[in-house]
Amino acid sequence: MLDASQAWELLRTIRSEAEAEAAGLLRTGESESESEGQGQSQGQGRSESQSESEGEGGGEGVSDANGNGNADAQKHSRQWQGKPGNISPEADALLDRYLPLCLAGPQVTFAQLGQSLDGFIATRTGDADYVTGEEDRGHLHRLRALADAVVVGAGTAVADDPKLTVRACSGANPVRVVLDPHGRVPLRRGVFTDGSAPTLWVVGAGHENGRAVPDGVDVLSLPDGDAFAPRNLVRTLARRGLGRVLIEGGGITVSRFLHERALHRLYVTVAPVLLGDGIPGIRFAGPELMRDALRPRIRRSALGEDTLFDLDLDLDLDLDLDLGRDLGRVAGFDPGSGGGLRTTPGGEPLADEHADTGQTRGEGEHSVHHGDGQTQ
Ligand SMILES: NC(=O)c1ccc[n+]([C@@H]2O[C@H](COP(=O)([O-])OP(=O)(O)OC[C@H]3O[C@@H](n4cnc5c(N)ncnc54)[C@H](OP(=O)(O)O)[C@@H]3O)[C@@H](O)[C@H]2O)c1
Repeated sequence: MLDASQAWELLRTIRSEAEAEAAGLLRTGESESESEGQGQSQGQGRSESQSESEGEGGGEGVSDANGNGNADAQKHSRQWQGKPGNISPEADALLDRYLPLCLAGPQVTFAQLGQSLDGFIATRTGDADYVTGEEDRGHLHRLRALADAVVVGAGTAVADDPKLTVRACSGANPVRVVLDPHGRVPLRRGVFTDGSAPTLWVVGAGHENGRAVPDGVDVLSLPDGDAFAPRNLVRTLARRGLGRVLIEGGGITVSRFLHERALHRLYVTVAPVLLGDGIPGIRFAGPELMRDALRPRIRRSALGEDTLFDLDLDLDLDLDLDLGRDLGRVAGFDPGSGGGLRTTPGGEPLADEHADTGQTRGEGEHSVHHGDGQTQ
């Protein structure tokens, strides 16, 4: 019997379909399950009611945003094969939830936010302890363990002083990446000083100001706003061997990666709590009409009292690591190509973020030397 901890250890080693098949976890092919109105079961043809009794994996289903199973979902469905009767329900739930991410390969960008029912990720004072429950914390730590790098925006680094390490499950700590174009995150923050994992401080040129950086922290000084464009950041990290990237918040950072088509998957955990006001989660220049809304393929599952939405953004991101392409057009992603973001006509940036994207990429983020003598 494959139990949950064995399934998790297997998941941590898998980065391709071949590896999943070799581990006996994957049998590719069309899903045999039927559409059930509220979404299509994706786990070994189980019924919704069976799934609901399985704790962490309860209530799983794949559907479009209208709650209907669809042809596209069926086409992409796979059956996670742990040999019926030979796998515990908890292990089955883990495979259902994380195998799609593992199968995305060594280069995948994914984000996670925990929010209130009314769409806030923190109170109006910035308190986010905790929006979602213990199960979601476990999920977040699993996502970290599957990532090479975990990225936060300056707002989160300032407000939360997060550790960004893997503590609720087994797994290696990812490299911690702080996006700080204006150098406003104090260097006494734990992410820079606790030494529990490597940290990359990504700062705008001139804002590092020769400040002494603690050992174990690498500084990446980027020349201009375009180098901070999400796709360019993904490429920059990939060139450093950081191909699997978790964008952990906050709302501005995740929204920008989503809006600029740099995310493969987005996990949103919704807690049954109303805040009325607060720090918003996903915000981007939305469509005028509902028919133009982004409707990604989703899977839902229960995380204790919370509900996890796993959005497959169907991104075909060619990292093109030798660069040199005009990346400006990605912000104006063609909404007619099926299920993508509809932006304002010019692909304008969000109202509350820097307006310096959408340019041809300037070459040459440059390196600085610091503490341990490494160049990054
Ligand atoms: N519930 C959750 O899941 C969750 C998760 C994380 C955080 N939070 C909460 O969210 C709040 C912070 O979120 P937030 O939306 O206000 O801020 P944020 O996303 O953490 O940080 C945004 C800032 O990061 C920098 N940044 C991020 N991406 C960038 C890019 N591609 N290019 C250039 N700069 C970039 C910018 O810094 P500058 O402003 O200096 O230009 C930007 O304004 C906190 O209260 C925290 O507690 C909640």
